[in-house]
Amino acid sequence: MTTSTQTDAPLPTHTDATGSSMATPAPVSASLTSSPLNSDAREVVDPITNWDGFSFDTRQVHVGEYADENCGARIPPLTLSAGYVFDSFDDGAARFNGGSREPIYSRQGNPTNAVAEQRLASLEGGTACVAVSSGQAAISAALFALAEAGEHIVSTASIYGGTRILLGRSFRRMGIEVDYVWDTDSDEAWDAVIRPETKAIFTETIPNPRNDVVDIARIAAVARRHGIPLVVDNTVATPYLIRPFEHGADIVVHSTTKFLSGHGAGVSGAIVDGGTFDWAASSRRYPLLTDSLRPGLPSLLDRFGPAAFAQYVREAVVNDVGPALSPFNGFLLHQGIETLSLRMERHVDNSRAIAHWLEEQPEVEVVDYAGLPSSPLHDIAQQYYNGRTGSVFAVTVRGGIEGARAFTNGLRVFSRMTGIGDTRSMVLHPLTTTHASFAPDLNARLGITAGMLRLSVGIEALDDLLLDLRGGLDRVAGIL
Ligand SMILES: Cc1ncc(COP(=O)(O)O)c(C=O)c1O
Repeated sequence: MTTSTQTDAPLPTHTDATGSSMATPAPVSASLTSSPLNSDAREVVDPITNWDGFSFDTRQVHVGEYADENCGARIPPLTLSAGYVFDSFDDGAARFNGGSREPIYSRQGNPTNAVAEQRLASLEGGTACVAVSSGQAAISAALFALAEAGEHIVSTASIYGGTRILLGRSFRRMGIEVDYVWDTDSDEAWDAVIRPETKAIFTETIPNPRNDVVDIARIAAVARRHGIPLVVDNTVATPYLIRPFEHGADIVVHSTTKFLSGHGAGVSGAIVDGGTFDWAASSRRYPLLTDSLRPGLPSLLDRFGPAAFAQYVREAVVNDVGPALSPFNGFLLHQGIETLSLRMERHVDNSRAIAHWLEEQPEVEVVDYAGLPSSPLHDIAQQYYNGRTGSVFAVTVRGGIEGARAFTNGLRVFSRMTGIGDTRSMVLHPLTTTHASFAPDLNARLGITAGMLRLSVGIEALDDLLLDLRGGLDRVAGIL
């Protein structure tokens, strides 16, 4: 896959509501030459509501927008309302009993959040999306929808530290066990831990913090062979760099706090249903999707088909547990998504240049960026990302923890903080922060060492970032 394929969607061939081809503009309307005061002659042009077939760059701007009937506001309005008025007694009953898809209450859905949901579903190539209050909420909701007490999840070992804590603490408390696979290319390693109770496989496309990309199609083949859905955290890559459904994933989750929003102004998350998993055919049972949840009501699979999983997450998990997204943050999210491709280009250009430069510096021990020719993961990086493996990666400086301290304190443009994926560059020392609660041997196995720093490279000018990093490395040189 090359990044140029981001805009390779077929030319739009569908027709708009007036029947004119979208690819060949209709002749200039006679109404343009008639008197603007003659209202009878004014043409009303229906808005495009179906953006299928348009390019990624166009869809990130438009999908989900709707015509504001109040004043024609160009930006989909921010609907700050907890609930929605029923048209009548019967309408209320219909909304609660599957007879209407109109909103009920903002814990299940909100028109502002729906804009972000439709936009992200389109960019990922999924059937439906549910926006939630954080990335952690998205991972929790997706996995909790699949597994219950007494069941089991298998994950790749190198994942975001917060997810490892979530699985090892809260999921364990709920009776859901987790096993990790270290050698993700080994079928035997997967087969050794997958059991009859295993209900999901979890991985990250570009793992945070070490950029140790996985062969997603290979893991999808394992999941398919065992009849288990593959859940992929695509936060760091975003659908601009890779769309996991195209490589066999079934469900995608995001911390939309990060690149999708891009501004770092709000926390949010999302679950996208690929519509690819055959719930009814799996040897593992997913009765919440395949069986009727109430007498007289068809199953979610019967009612929602390829979007049944998303509907289950919305209706049952998110509605029950309550991690609803504030529409204010939903608004910030759909505004952010509009510029995703532009920001990602700059993030990745800066990161590649910085990774190459860092590798040449005498104060640097190693740079973990899969896109570098020196990386053992270079082949996977080329195959899936054309070497452009995002902008979150690790650099290990000489001097151990003292080197890491000197480097961090020597930076001024890079913010010292936890967080990734917004416009600003950020630096973090995982061993003393995100990974501080892990046993030393686990951190050693994960490659989280004393001198290792996580960088999230922003969209500032490359020269300024290089100068800043040089300042940090000069401090390292001073203590060696
Ligand atoms: C890969 C990944 N997934 C999930 C999360 C959690 O997201 P949030 O902070 O929005 O809860 C993070 C946060 O850093 C992350 O990096």
